[in-house]
Amino acid sequence: MIINIIHGPNLNMLSKREPSLYGSLTLDEINNLILKKAHSLNVSVDFFQSNAEGDIVSKIQNLYGESDGIIINAAAYTHTSIAIRDALLAVNIPFVEVHLSNVYKRESFRHFSYLSDIAVGVIAGFGFKSYELALEALVNYLTAQEQA
Ligand code: DQA
Repeated sequence: MIINIIHGPNLNMLSKREPSLYGSLTLDEINNLILKKAHSLNVSVDFFQSNAEGDIVSKIQNLYGESDGIIINAAAYTHTSIAIRDALLAVNIPFVEVHLSNVYKRESFRHFSYLSDIAVGVIAGFGFKSYELALEALVNYLTAQEQA
């Protein structure tokens, strides 16, 4: 099973960027934790980060037929991007929407997501653990689908 992890804009700044909200780990450190979790679940993971909306759209398009599942933290594009939504619909790959912070505790413009209603599920507010929880949940979901 191959799961693709997609990180959106400004997540390359983790550890420096508002650490009280997003934590003190770098993106590489978080990716390493995700990798460890993936090993324990016996699945493969691949990582991608971009600050550019079009590059994220192209990455998702390139996953067509190549990925079992996606974990995406689209960051600010969550709240703005019809293009990322449409790309996810186009490839029809099950995905989990992730946020480090609890977006519902924050500004009202973060309460809307273009992705939530088409996601398998959403995990927000648990810092880097959100990714680990998302991976576990997505692998469970995909395994159940395989067995159905
Ligand atoms: C975020 C929440 C978004 O609202 C914000 O724009 C981000 C990060 C999170 O992980 O908590 O960049 O997706």
